[in-house]
Amino acid sequence: MVDQELARAGLRLDIDGSVATVTLNRPERRNAQTPGMWRALARIGDTLPEGVRIVVLRGEGPSFSAGLDLAAFTPEGIPGEGPAFAPGMGPGELDVLIDEYQQGFTWLRRPEITSIAVVRGHAIGAGFQLALSCDLRIAADDAKFCMKEPALGLVPDLTGTKPLVDAVGLARALEICLTVRTVLADEALALGIVQTTVPEDDLDAALADLVASLLKVDAGAAIATKRLLQQAPGNTLDEQRAVERREQSGRILGR
Ligand code: ACO
Repeated sequence: MVDQELARAGLRLDIDGSVATVTLNRPERRNAQTPGMWRALARIGDTLPEGVRIVVLRGEGPSFSAGLDLAAFTPEGIPGEGPAFAPGMGPGELDVLIDEYQQGFTWLRRPEITSIAVVRGHAIGAGFQLALSCDLRIAADDAKFCMKEPALGLVPDLTGTKPLVDAVGLARALEICLTVRTVLADEALALGIVQTTVPEDDLDAALADLVASLLKVDAGAAIATKRLLQQAPGNTLDEQRAVERREQSGRILGR
């Protein structure tokens, strides 16, 4: 995608060898998200160069993302884009449209990459869900997570509910979503929502260390291991050990 298209969608993409960094770049709107941004994110996923192993997702300015652009709820909708959901759409059309929006988030789980959200400040609604769409989350100690959708009469529908429940369990996920409370960095770490918290000034160094560690591992083994781990929650032990055998045979025979 050309830089101008990305800039129009409020994004920046920097590729440095095997590391791609996607930056939400609307700091004056606290990186509020729009359908145009989700479509552009999906296109980044579709066109990612083959050698990219790590995708870093971060936000410019003090907040990771304040969620859906609130202009989406006005009659005029988001400037240049219109409403997120056109009036009069039926269930079938809505299903197709929301699926299209979700494509901006799903590619971050691909086994070929490890995705890392770097969260400073607020991660609200779609911002929280975007962070949850990544494999790993590093947070500054000022990070604040809030699943705000129910307060606006909506549900979280941008692929965030499964990773949240997987991380914290059903009861805690319900409590976080239905009280619409803010989870601060320390609690997010204790609950397993984030893997690391550091003082804000140390965020870039912590990210660099993590990326260096991930890149030390054999690329093929990393892909196969991610694929293996992703299946574990839905498998019985026997199913999972069968997958372990298959992946290991592939490693041994593929060498
Ligand atoms: N959509 C559009 N503009 C936004 C959004 C948003 N989601 N969030 C912040 N902005 C704008 C503000 O209107 C403000 O614009 P202005 O300078 O023209 O007045 C600017 O970004 C800075 O925001 P402030 O509120 O001044 O910044 P502050 O740091 O005090 O607060 C915070 C940040 C907490 C994120 C606050 O802006 C906020 O609560 N935003 C709304 C969050 C929200 O409800 N998101 C929707 C969630 S639901 C979903 O994502 C589906």
